[in-house]
Amino acid sequence: MLEVSGLSKKFDRNKEQRYAVQDVSLTIADNEIFALVGESGSGKSTLAEMIVGLQRPSAGRIYWQGQRIERKPDYWQQVQMIFQNPDRSLNPYWKVRDLIAEPLILQRVPREDAYHRVARLLEQVSLPRELGLRSTSECSGGQKQRVAIARALALPPQLLIADEMTSALDPLTEREMLRLLLELKREHRLSLLYITHRLETIDGFADRLAVMKDGRIVETGSCADILNAPQALYTKRLLDACDYSAEPGVMK
Ligand SMILES: Nc1ncnc2c1ncn2[C@@H]1O[C@H](COP(=O)(O)OP(=O)(O)O)[C@@H](O)[C@H]1O
Ligand SMILES: [Mg+2]
Repeated sequence: MLEVSGLSKKFDRNKEQRYAVQDVSLTIADNEIFALVGESGSGKSTLAEMIVGLQRPSAGRIYWQGQRIERKPDYWQQVQMIFQNPDRSLNPYWKVRDLIAEPLILQRVPREDAYHRVARLLEQVSLPRELGLRSTSECSGGQKQRVAIARALALPPQLLIADEMTSALDPLTEREMLRLLLELKREHRLSLLYITHRLETIDGFADRLAVMKDGRIVETGSCADILNAPQALYTKRLLDACDYSAEPGVMK
């Protein structure tokens, strides 16, 4: 469904140019959870931002359903992104229902119909309907991320990109969030690019996995294979460092 081929991004630093992402290729299939892991600074966010069009690649191509995204004007509606910090994308002065309805209103859906849809979306992300009338300043961190998910689902995307979306949450809320994403994947048959530095959270959650280091992918394969038998030395080190055995996967 999504294919990234030879993607690179250079930034100027002082007078030097440095690669944040270097020659990355990957594919994400329909209805697949693809996890991208790596320590901070490895280029995960830059890669995600190129995929959603927030950064322009220095080299390489992105294909959607077999065609370059430049030739697929509807691509931008079919991919949505959720960030680590929901406050970045949620205006604290707006009511929750208006935040979730905004993408619909922008598509000229009548307000009344949009609010109907919001009620269903709130249900889907397990938020109480009354929350729709409050502002996000009254929400907990987990609730805000649910609002961000509901908003991203308002115009149902085929690919959802979640960049460290649970990193600011406590482990219990994080686990609830992963369960919700799994449910949404089943219900909507969407694909998920799930970015995290927490390797210990993806067992039983992700289908495939790519490990990123210094802008490059050092290992990719099925999640189970890599967690059970990592090939790259770097992956082994990551697994050792995160005490992965101590934390059972989300569905176990
Ligand atoms: N706008 C930018 N200008 C210059 N350097 C950047 C910019 N964005 C990211 N970088 C650099 O690119 C590298 C990768 O960053 P990032 O993609 O945010 O990594 P991650 O999300 O894995 O933590 C880092 O070294 C970071 O400092
Ligand atoms: Mg990042």
